[in-house]
Amino acid sequence: MQFAVLSLFPDMFTSPFAQSIIGKAVEKGLLGIATHQLRNYAAGRHQVTDDTPYGGGDGMVMKAEPVCHGIEDMRHRYPEAHVVLMTPQGQRFNQAEAEHLAQKQALVFVCGRYEGFDERIRSYVDAEYSIGDYVLTGGELPAMVVMDAVARLVPGVLGNEDSARQDSHSDGLLEFPHYTRPAEFRGEKVPEVLLSGNHARIQEWRRNEQCKRTEERRPDLWQRYTQQHKSDN
Ligand code: ADE
Repeated sequence: MQFAVLSLFPDMFTSPFAQSIIGKAVEKGLLGIATHQLRNYAAGRHQVTDDTPYGGGDGMVMKAEPVCHGIEDMRHRYPEAHVVLMTPQGQRFNQAEAEHLAQKQALVFVCGRYEGFDERIRSYVDAEYSIGDYVLTGGELPAMVVMDAVARLVPGVLGNEDSARQDSHSDGLLEFPHYTRPAEFRGEKVPEVLLSGNHARIQEWRRNEQCKRTEERRPDLWQRYTQQHKSDN
């Protein structure tokens, strides 16, 4: 999987992609990450990438020319790429979208700063994503969130192929509770069934816990899950 990023702050991507599981995947050549300085696509001596909004108002707006010029160069460099714009106005990113993006050969992330993008930029990208209903200072952290969620779905990135499939959200439910040694911690015991060695009982207990948890903590997911399973039958 090739990731490319168009940003005014490409250095922000260095450390997160040099560590841990993602760092190892980069070393192994399973993931490539290339960052591109958006300012290099801006014209003139001052290489300005933002300007005041037409109609007035607070803040600055990302200019169409440098961003579109940058996107065109990305499409030239990565002809297979799916180009995504990070914006609080985008489609809400979730596990299903991570799975969809993980099928692509290359992803380009366009990260903005300031109040937002000139509206005319939108027609140059393939998708717009928001990572949640809150506003960050730029698209870099959201792009890293999406990249991380996609990267761990790329075959070989996680050691154990099953661990991505068993995640919270991958089947529309939250994950079951996990325990490791010791069997008793400060008076709290690990549920007996997990020590039983009875695989079928353990599976059943875990499924039950998943349902209980999802219903209690995420009624929105639970409703979707029960509706889907109703229509399956
Ligand atoms: N840029 C600023 N806030 C954002 C968010 N919540 N999601 C995606 N991009 C953003």
